Parts: sequence; structure tokens; C-alpha cells
Amino acid sequence: MIDVRRALFTLIGSNFRPVGDTLQGKIPYDAADIQKRVARVAFLAPQLSEVFPDFSATGETKAKPEIWSKRADFDGKLKDFQTHALALAQVVEKDAGNADAFKAAAAAVGKDCKGCHDDYKSK
Ligand code: HEC
Repeated sequence: MIDVRRALFTLIGSNFRPVGDTLQGKIPYDAADIQKRVARVAFLAPQLSEVFPDFSATGETKAKPEIWSKRADFDGKLKDFQTHALALAQVVEKDAGNADAFKAAAAAVGKDCKGCHDDYKSK
């Protein structure tokens, strides 16, 4: 289960990287590539709901024990991320030419990554 979880995050991370780089202005906005990447993140994000069962709290993992002791808060952060990832995919799908709408929606997702890692992922 931990392997599946880490695989999901690895894929989410590799697909979100060009999104973050675009957001930071490191690379130009490439609507087609961004569309592909955010659709993948939106597809992967809901699967995270299945990969934090109680028995996966210990082992080769950077998941902090607080995930299981503050479950409601963690689940709320996960839900926010899933909602924002879907919203981002929809924004880019509907209006690929609108770089400003992309930026706002992508920034919300980026905040979710950091917010959850700060509280629930060890370095
Ligand atoms: C709701 C909490 C939460 C959100 C939101 C979240 N993460 Fe994570 N992330 C974690 C936890 C917990 C781990 C540690 C998993 C483990 O080691 O079992 C992790 C691990 C990772 C890893 C390391 C994978 C590995 O094992 O090498 C990457 C990369 C990553 N996340 C990227 C992201 C990105 C990018 C986003 C946003 C697009 C994101 N995460 C959103 C909680 C979250």
C-alpha cells in the first residue's frame, strides 16, 4: 500500500512539475502540455483516498503519524486538493487560452501540495 501511495505521489509530482514551472514563469505557457498534465493529476488525485489505511502508517514511508491521529483534518486537506485538481483540469479544458485563469487555479493546487506536506510529510 505504501508503494502504491508513493507511486501515485511520484506520478502526481512529475506531472505537476511543468505546471509549477509555468506558474513560476520558468517555462512559457504551453496549453496542450498543461492540459495533458493537469488531466493526469485530476485522474490520480481521487485515488489517494484509498492509500492511507490504518495498516499503512508504519514502514518505509514519509507519511507522518499525525495523518492517522488527526484524520479529519488530513481528509479535509486531501479533499481540498482533489477539488482544486479537478477545478484546474476543468479550467484548462474549457479555456486553454486563458493563462490567468490557469494561474489562479494552479496556484490553489500548489498551495494544497505545500500545505499538506508541511503538516503531514516528513522531509
Ligand atoms: C493531503 C496531503 C497531500 C497533498 C495534498 C499532497 N501530498 Fe504529496 N505527499 C503527501 C504524503 C503524506 C507523502 C508521503 C507518502 C509516503 O512516503 O508514504 C507525500 C509524498 C509526495 C512525494 C514523494 C513521493 C516519493 O515517495 O518519493 C511527492 C513527489 C509529492 N508528494 C508531490 C506532491 C505534489 C506535487 C502535490 C500537489 C500537486 C502533492 N504531493 C499533494 C501528502 C500530500
